[in-house]
Amino acid sequence: MIKNICCIGAGYVGGPTMAVIALKCPEITVNVVDLNKERIEAWNDKNLSNLPIYEPGLAEIVSKTRGKNLFFSTDIEKNIDHSEIIFIAVNTPTKMYGEGKGMAADLKYVELCARQIAKYSKSDKIIVEKSTLPVRTAETIQTILESCEKKINFQVLSNPEFLAEGTAVQDLLNCDRVLIGSKQSKSGLMAAKTLEKIYERWIPKDKILKTNVWSSELSKLTANAFLAQRISSINSISALCEVTEADVDEVANAIGLDHRIGSKFLKSSVGFGGSCFQKDILNIVYLCRFYNLYEVAEYWEQVIKINDYQKYRFSKNIIFNLFNTVNEKKITILGWAFKKDTNDTRESAAIYVSDHLIDNLAEIHVYDPKVNKSKIENDMKYLWKNKGLNHEEIEKKLSCLIVHSDPYAAMNDSHGIAIITEWDIFKEFDWNKIYLDMKKPAFIFDGRNILNKQALTKIGYEVRRIGSK
Ligand code: NAD
Ligand code: UGA
Repeated sequence: MIKNICCIGAGYVGGPTMAVIALKCPEITVNVVDLNKERIEAWNDKNLSNLPIYEPGLAEIVSKTRGKNLFFSTDIEKNIDHSEIIFIAVNTPTKMYGEGKGMAADLKYVELCARQIAKYSKSDKIIVEKSTLPVRTAETIQTILESCEKKINFQVLSNPEFLAEGTAVQDLLNCDRVLIGSKQSKSGLMAAKTLEKIYERWIPKDKILKTNVWSSELSKLTANAFLAQRISSINSISALCEVTEADVDEVANAIGLDHRIGSKFLKSSVGFGGSCFQKDILNIVYLCRFYNLYEVAEYWEQVIKINDYQKYRFSKNIIFNLFNTVNEKKITILGWAFKKDTNDTRESAAIYVSDHLIDNLAEIHVYDPKVNKSKIENDMKYLWKNKGLNHEEIEKKLSCLIVHSDPYAAMNDSHGIAIITEWDIFKEFDWNKIYLDMKKPAFIFDGRNILNKQALTKIGYEVRRIGSK
């Protein structure tokens, strides 16, 4: 019987996943540990609106479990030692230095976890890869664990996470499948069975899939690559729609009714963001090149190229419509998160669209219901630093970025409004009032096709959508 679980990494995956396990398995104590003291303090904040991650339904689960069988701490050593199962849910970003720079996954955090586990463990453990990892990483983890020369049996399982942000709680409670990859040895299969028993508490048995470790690791990367590929496919068609008077939403609907294609993930947009699609595809591209599969690498790289093209096309279109210059013009960016119902901004299209417009000397005014000023400024500082700008240049650019907590102030006197995130509240704004307060002609660039073009045109707006004339 499993009594104690430890999860290393209290982020977008570790936090919600462990909260749901704690909810569904009240007899198991779940300890979530992280190096980041501030993040742990936020998870322990009495005021649940200060949790470090915003996800619908998450605060309610944390309020039911925290302090009972769900705990957040920085005491990594003690919690590793006490647990029978350890989940690794740390970040695996794209490497920004040295060999594989800009492509390979940076596994330094995962390696550190393996070393911490090897150092602090005194009894047998099941180690679960929750982070998304290059195929065959389990082998690296196993090698590090075995090098500690203690008489401990470590079984490394792959159990990738498929939750999407904004719907994380629902995805965890009611997922399409749970995937568990293990060694096909007797002890490997037993470890997989132990993990399966935990999920069986709330996931139907037929949704729990067991494979070998490498298939499980590669399935995660492949699932993300296929999802991203669908978005790039429909976005590539959106460009064709704009010059042919076809409408991309009508095309998506028509093709989506074919059950072989399916209707999901065909929403054309300003481009996909988020911490994973780009990083995971780059990871596949890197792996393919490593194994000399150049044609395969090129095929997947195209998904990223189309996504970059879509973001660029969107901002170029704003400039083109505003009479070919945005110099000293006020442009409002509605939405900074990479999708609705999350406060995550990693790789959000808003960052790249704003950068392009600021390069063209626009004054950018931002409003997002869940993302604060410092996060928005930090996103831009990080980008500009990586582009090689010095302190003075960054400060100068930052003076063109104004963040508002009142959406109407962000739009007042604006030349054009760009919708980047599909937040529902944007549909409920008083568009009649906003029109009166804008510069004319008043442009709306709907990067998510969420607003009613006909109604807005009737008010007097010039509306530009993705994938229609
Ligand atoms: P995150 O950056 O939100 O959280 C990772 C946390 O790990 C951070 O708080 C960091 O401080 C902590 N950490 C790093 N090294 C540590 C160490 N050695 N000891 C203790 N703590 C450590 O990342 P995330 O979005 O939760 O993603 C985690 C993994 O899950 C990634 O591999 C990602 O690809 C994958 N994934 C993410 C999502 C998602 O929606 N975000 C979904 C599925 C899979
Ligand atoms: C994605 C996958 O959906 C998850 O299954 C996976 O676990 C996760 O990545 C991960 O590995 O991190 P996530 O990035 O959180 O989840 O969110 P998605 O709903 O997939 O959206 C990603 C981006 O694509 C967003 O910017 C979204 O707005 C955009 N998108 C999505 C579109 O532009 N069109 C669509 O039809 C769907």
